[in-house]
Amino acid sequence: MKGLRSLNVIGLFVIWILSYVVALCMVVVSGRPATFLEDFRVTWADNHVRQLDGGRGIQLVLDQSSGCGFASRRQYLFGKVSMKIKLVPGDSAGTVTAFYMNSDTDTIRDELDFEFLGNRSGQPYTVQTNIYAHGKGDREQRVNLWFDPAADFHTYSIRWTHSLIVFGVDDIPIRVYKNQEAKGIPYPKQQPMGIYSTLWEADDWATRGGLEKIDWNKAPFYAYYKDFDIEGCPVPGPANCPWNPNNWWEGPAHRALSPAQAKNYQWVKANHMIYDYCTDKSRYPQTPPECGLDNL
Ligand SMILES: *[C@@H]1O[C@H](CO)[C@@H](O)[C@H](O)[C@H]1NC(C)=O
Repeated sequence: MKGLRSLNVIGLFVIWILSYVVALCMVVVSGRPATFLEDFRVTWADNHVRQLDGGRGIQLVLDQSSGCGFASRRQYLFGKVSMKIKLVPGDSAGTVTAFYMNSDTDTIRDELDFEFLGNRSGQPYTVQTNIYAHGKGDREQRVNLWFDPAADFHTYSIRWTHSLIVFGVDDIPIRVYKNQEAKGIPYPKQQPMGIYSTLWEADDWATRGGLEKIDWNKAPFYAYYKDFDIEGCPVPGPANCPWNPNNWWEGPAHRALSPAQAKNYQWVKANHMIYDYCTDKSRYPQTPPECGLDNL
């Protein structure tokens, strides 16, 4: 009788420990999206980057003394990065918030850029995207957002696979760059890239080509970030990871846009694209070879 009771006690104890272990595992697995400091570090003006909500979010500050920026601790080769951003509200003319990936190899730079160009109150925010492959950029496109990106958080993502690069806004593709190496078109594939973001003043070009200047009376300017999520192959890391066809982002469903995504992409191009280097004849009398090849 006594022995049975102590067995019961031990059994209960084991169950209690196990449930703790299970709960702990669940916490670790659902730990994504990460806290800021798990995956990122401040690269510019520590005192202008403020952590919020126990490090799950941050506030970037731009004032007359400085802008600021942060970068991922590691570099990645293929994967998907996303974060939620709430941009500078009101009169944000002359401010630029950037979110990009960069190989940090200047002469043979690979870079995938989102640049959010502020505007006067009530005027649309412009998103400029650009792609550098093997040192060559000059592939700007501009889209006016169909919502106020300062009123609430929206998700901005870069998906980079062996097949294509997709810039997403709330899962709507606003830019697609397909791997067309077979046609001799450079594609970023050799070098890992870090993830970066900055908030700074660029009123010599950002808003209406530099005509609209920053109004320092409205400073400080704030942008907010949360839900940092990086799913990719860190470098250094497992050597075969970038080439593993079982990575979800390389799966058959992700080798091209789904029909619904393709439809959304056409909608963006038809209704919200305000500039495309591909159709800028004064800049490129001869259409760049990759143009027109993103149709899916
Ligand atoms: C700002 O608003 C003007 C006027 O609506 C528009 O032409 C421009 O594309 C907007 N964006 C920028 C970055 O200038």
